[in-house]
Amino acid sequence: MTTIDLRTPLKFAYWVPNVSGGLVVSTIEQRTSWDFEYNKTLARIAEDSGFEYALTQTRYAASYGADKQHEATSFSLALLLATERLKVISAVHPGMWHPGVLAKFIITADHLSGGRAAVNVVSGWLKDEFVNFGLPWLEHDERYVRTEEFIRVLRGLWTEEDFSFPGKYYDIKNFTLNPPPIDVPGRPHPEIFFGGNSTAAQAAAGRTADWYFSNGRDIEGFKENIAGVTRAAAEAGRAPRFGLNGFVIARESEKEARETLREIVAKAHRPAVEGFASAVKEAGQSTKDGKGMWADSTFEDLVQYNDGFRTQLIGTPEQIAERIVEYKKIGVNLFLTCYLHFQEEVEAFGRDVLPIVRELEADLARKNGTELDTGLLPPIGAARDARHSLATAR
Ligand SMILES: Cc1cc2nc3c(=O)[nH]c(=O)nc-3n(C[C@H](O)[C@H](O)[C@H](O)COP(=O)(O)O)c2cc1C
Repeated sequence: MTTIDLRTPLKFAYWVPNVSGGLVVSTIEQRTSWDFEYNKTLARIAEDSGFEYALTQTRYAASYGADKQHEATSFSLALLLATERLKVISAVHPGMWHPGVLAKFIITADHLSGGRAAVNVVSGWLKDEFVNFGLPWLEHDERYVRTEEFIRVLRGLWTEEDFSFPGKYYDIKNFTLNPPPIDVPGRPHPEIFFGGNSTAAQAAAGRTADWYFSNGRDIEGFKENIAGVTRAAAEAGRAPRFGLNGFVIARESEKEARETLREIVAKAHRPAVEGFASAVKEAGQSTKDGKGMWADSTFEDLVQYNDGFRTQLIGTPEQIAERIVEYKKIGVNLFLTCYLHFQEEVEAFGRDVLPIVRELEADLARKNGTELDTGLLPPIGAARDARHSLATAR
């Protein structure tokens, strides 16, 4: 059974556009850039608008609409240094990184940022990246065996001295990393997120991760993910929290928002989306039970490459806020959001949607005999020079 935490306010994250082409594979106008200046301004807008986290993407090769990519860990560090409160979650592949080298890198990033570094461990789907780098490409469920070991090593090196781990994929002997990560109250080590949807992913995440991240899903669908992760977590005596991806289209009217979605899909870059549909067969569809990420995604779903339309954060700010709180009722703790025009829409989300979410969350808590703990809300800054530079850039 999942215990629904109605006291803690929902947390919000955004996808860092550190690869080119925006977050939808469409020729529709996207005022989103993958360069650093754009992203620096975006990160400052986000932390001043009530966002607590940003998530970078890891890609090494051009694929399906992302012709150019900035490397995730270095980009995350740069964003940490450009902000004051935002936590930046760096996507990392166990098959590409040695966990000891990554553990050390993240400790340094944590010290440079006052305890704001985090990782999203992703097991990979883009076979060519591995094969063409000359790295082993493991069978689907075996990737999660390695991922679990990877996370155990990360956590061990972050929390123990003289740490040893004799595993199938990693063999660590009496290692102590000094300094350890920054001591942040309530955080035993940099947070470990885990992205994946398949049965194997859910089980591995439940056993090892602090946070389970999923592609976009409808409410009934996400209940299944929560149940799968919670089962494995309970056996391991753990209680991970849940994050869900959603593509936000907030407009003055629902009609306008739906029209924008129609235009995104109508202008989809068809060959890229079809190529993507073929490549992702290495994910969910390649599993024994055929479940998992992208296993049943339609053409429309794949235009947002993490199934973000399925979460249906599309409509007026009120409609979106109501939908968000419906997800809170089933156990979602964090929304990972993406947009067409990131800078403008992240700011608008903070201004128009978040205040309604907070009201609805407070009502929900009261109706259930508790209080929303507003002391846990991230501070919303006077959006200082970020907004200024946005205004001058227009
Ligand atoms: C929130 C989230 C973020 C992800 N980010 C990346 C990424 O940056 N790079 C990448 O190669 N895969 C990324 N993935 C995909 C995973 O690597 C993996 O292929 C996918 O979760 C496989 O799903 P499956 O276990 O359902 O087959 C991400 C997945 C999720 C849910």
